[in-house]
Amino acid sequence: MQHEAVFILAIESSCDDTAAAVLQNDKVLSNVVANQLIHNQYGGVVPELASRAHQQNIVPVIDAALKVANINKEQLSAIAFTQGPGLMGSLLVGSSFAKSMALALNIPLIAVNHMQAHVLAHFIDEEGFDKPSFPFIALTISGGHTQIIKVNSFFDMEIIGETTDDAVGEAFDKSAKILGLPYPGGPLVDKYAQLGNPKAFTFTKPKVPGLDFSFSGLKTAILYFIQKKTFENPNFIEENLNDICASIQHTIIEILMDKLQLAVATTGIKQIAIGGGVSANSGIRKTLKEAEQKFGWKTYIPKFEYTTDNAAMIGIVGYQKFLLGKFETSDVVSKARIQF
Ligand code: KG4
Ligand code: ZN
Repeated sequence: MQHEAVFILAIESSCDDTAAAVLQNDKVLSNVVANQLIHNQYGGVVPELASRAHQQNIVPVIDAALKVANINKEQLSAIAFTQGPGLMGSLLVGSSFAKSMALALNIPLIAVNHMQAHVLAHFIDEEGFDKPSFPFIALTISGGHTQIIKVNSFFDMEIIGETTDDAVGEAFDKSAKILGLPYPGGPLVDKYAQLGNPKAFTFTKPKVPGLDFSFSGLKTAILYFIQKKTFENPNFIEENLNDICASIQHTIIEILMDKLQLAVATTGIKQIAIGGGVSANSGIRKTLKEAEQKFGWKTYIPKFEYTTDNAAMIGIVGYQKFLLGKFETSDVVSKARIQF
């Protein structure tokens, strides 16, 4: 079936960002995100505050997405929303809104898996960005997830490795917290790391079999290291911040790269696509680009606004599901945990 133009309104509310986007087929017409700054003072996302903020933000965010796209709601072909995984209270705000709107407009409702969306964000049509071809390996690294996925086709994905405890983003954020940096500390660690020596300090890498990850041991190692050093010199952090950040980041990147190399060796697939908020990290981007030369890989890094939590990625999955007629009725339920 050929469609002239499909307009999808996509809604994402799985964690602490309220987001809405409008896509025309695989092109993004608008991509609006309202970040919830309220959580910063608590050092992490507070679920109850997140769902309340979603309730306040959802109408203005959707309104803005439609206005920026210059589309009125009667032109919409379908509404896509994040079904999970995520915080239940947050998911419910987006799903209830999507259901009501689809019902009112009498158009199809499409449920999207947030983790699948991080992977399929690579298929948004964007000038200057290549799309991977199947099969490829996706590395999804965010504050909530760390997964290596073998992607056989749009909806045939296999998780071949994942974290057994903290996510990579948490490893960054918790390390930053130990250094007294504000939440979320990942981008700050990245910033200081660029000015430091990655070999200044050594942290032991965890030994986890296969393609799985573990980051909680690293966090403890960093904590003990900082406690010991600041006992000897109370100004240790201030005097060495850049080097500490560079060394932490270097260790995290090595952990990721070791597993990616193993994933390539076991699958024979040399196309690597990364996604999730941590893929914004400059060190990870640089190392992946170097791996193209070093190992003959082809790497894909989406446009920044499609790597962190956003609704455009929900929209691209919505578009693919629209073409396949994968629609839901309004009794579809949100799921805090969900596999592919
Ligand atoms: O995908 P995302 O926006 O939200 C979810 O967790 O789903 O990812 C947020 C995570 C946070 O842990 C944040 O510290 C981390 O991504 N992050 C970074 C960088 N930018 C964001 N970590 C390291 N370096 C960065 N440049
Ligand atoms: Zn995410």
